[in-house]
Amino acid sequence: MTTTIRYAVAAVLLSTGVAMAGGNPQAGKDKSTVCAGCHGADGNAVIGANPRLAGQYESYLYQALKQYKNGQRNDLLMSNMVASLTDQDMRDLAAWFSSQTGNTLMVLPKD
Ligand code: HEC
Repeated sequence: MTTTIRYAVAAVLLSTGVAMAGGNPQAGKDKSTVCAGCHGADGNAVIGANPRLAGQYESYLYQALKQYKNGQRNDLLMSNMVASLTDQDMRDLAAWFSSQTGNTLMVLPKD
């Protein structure tokens, strides 16, 4: 009996987890104009100091945005960027950049 309940709880938690990951890439694209200046329109940043977002896991991008928002990550630029974003905005932006293809451009060390 307890095992059955445990499985039931696990199933509920798992299905919630899947549902929670859902951002809308198209909505994210519309919200991403402000990000494009630094991260590139498709998330392939051309300036080495700005991380490439294209093709990164959606859950990772969403997590990173949340961490800038709650102060677990601290960066002057990004903390300001996320200040006005809602949770849904962050999910949509994560979905958009994650759906893009990362390029293989590499910045090599000088020496
Ligand atoms: C003014 C330049 C600038 C703008 C505009 C900007 N970012 Fe950033 N972003 C950065 C920099 C610089 C970092 C690296 C910060 C650090 O070291 O934590 C970063 C980091 C990130 C990261 C973490 C990447 C990783 O690999 O860990 C995400 C996700 C991100 N930005 C998303 C966005 C989104 C979404 C927007 C638009 C709402 C945006 N950024 C707008 C400069 C910018």
